Amino acid sequence: MKKKILLFSVVGLLVACSDEPATSADPQNKTAVVRNMDFAKISRGGKLFQQNCAICHGRQAEGAPNWQQMDDSGKFPPPPLNGSAHAWHHPKIVLVNTIKNGTAKSGGNMPAWKDKLSEEQINDIIIWFQSKWSDEIYSAWYLADQGFR
Ligand code: HEC
Repeated sequence: MKKKILLFSVVGLLVACSDEPATSADPQNKTAVVRNMDFAKISRGGKLFQQNCAICHGRQAEGAPNWQQMDDSGKFPPPPLNGSAHAWHHPKIVLVNTIKNGTAKSGGNMPAWKDKLSEEQINDIIIWFQSKWSDEIYSAWYLADQGFR
């Protein structure tokens, strides 16, 4: 339930951001979209993902085939993180916190990683799965994420 509310507010923010007229002419250009394509990070993140996350989210972060269907216990299967589901609706801080804390508290099946992975390792994993997002998806995520800073 909580998740749905967050989703709607982020979508609202996306709309608000796209209405902003001055961004591209702004000399500070805080909203210029910069993709992190640091090869070392992506390659480290990819390895860590295979070791820790692929068993549930799939080797290419494609998620479980039935990820949108709640199971009998009221939990959802692991969603894709490759840009085809809604991981991109979440600002960076929410992605980091979901990975750190898992989703057991909100009734989900995702384990917590904060005792197993460092902040930097979590960041590298995010950069790896974000490298699979299209420019369009990444830009939408990036501009919304700026609103949280
Ligand atoms: C035991 C299976 C499992 C493992 C292992 C796992 N996850 Fe998950 N993950 C889930 C499930 C299930 C969800 C859906 C949230 C829920 O309802 O619990 C999820 C949700 C997420 C989300 C939120 C996606 C969204 O669209 O809201 C992110 C981000 C995520 N996982 C990243 C990771 C990363 C990174 C790793 C490895 C460090 C990982 N997960 C390992 C099961 C897993």
